[in-house]
Amino acid sequence: MNNYKIIQTKELKTCLNEKNLLDDVRKDANSKKIPIIDEVLGRILEVICFLKKPRNVLEIGCGVGYSSYFIIKELKAGSYIGIDLNKRRLELAEKFIKSIFPGTKCAFITGNAIKIIPNLKIKFDMIFIDAAKYEYPFYIKKLMNKMNTGAIIIADNVFYKGKIFEENISKHDYNSVIGIREYIKIITDANLFETNFLKIGDGVSISIFKGS
Ligand SMILES: C[S@@+](CC[C@H](N)C(=O)[O-])C[C@H]1O[C@@H](n2cnc3c(N)ncnc32)[C@H](O)[C@@H]1O
Repeated sequence: MNNYKIIQTKELKTCLNEKNLLDDVRKDANSKKIPIIDEVLGRILEVICFLKKPRNVLEIGCGVGYSSYFIIKELKAGSYIGIDLNKRRLELAEKFIKSIFPGTKCAFITGNAIKIIPNLKIKFDMIFIDAAKYEYPFYIKKLMNKMNTGAIIIADNVFYKGKIFEENISKHDYNSVIGIREYIKIITDANLFETNFLKIGDGVSISIFKGS
């Protein structure tokens, strides 16, 4: 006789279903060579949302919505805006998110975040940046009057495969490295932000906006 009883609570079934869902999205994205975040970073976004309970969240570079999933899962009464240049990816993100979280207040906007941000009429409590590395300083500069005091800004790829620490930069990487270095200079300005760096995936920064 088997002494081990298989635990099948509702919560564990939910975990298993989520695992299967996220594995499918990852497999699909990998097969199409669409970049998506590390699951660990996804879980960090989820925990930040769970603890911070942001009212308004902005994601710059939502892609097919994999990262959006972790944010929106814990959003509850808040609202979410995802921006992506790539119309096809954005449509997939919107379809995916609305099928799983039909009641959530979310909007998906196609276009260049640098042009879109100045037209956003609300201020944000949480922002996730995962788009073009050379543009990171432009995003944060445009966001300066769009953040509530205490807003949390998470940025992916801030170590850029270790290249930001190297002295010699190839021509190919030049704009990205310079862009990320400038972004880091801004978020480590102690008058504006309190920032922590995590050695996760390609490097993640987590900043708290002190107010302007
Ligand atoms: C690494 S992917 C995002 C992956 C997504 N966060 C995820 O984990 O599912 C980067 C995305 O940024 C978008 N992007 C690049 N530059 C952009 C810009 N200036 N404005 C909006 N989106 C941009 C690209 O189209 C691409 O889909």
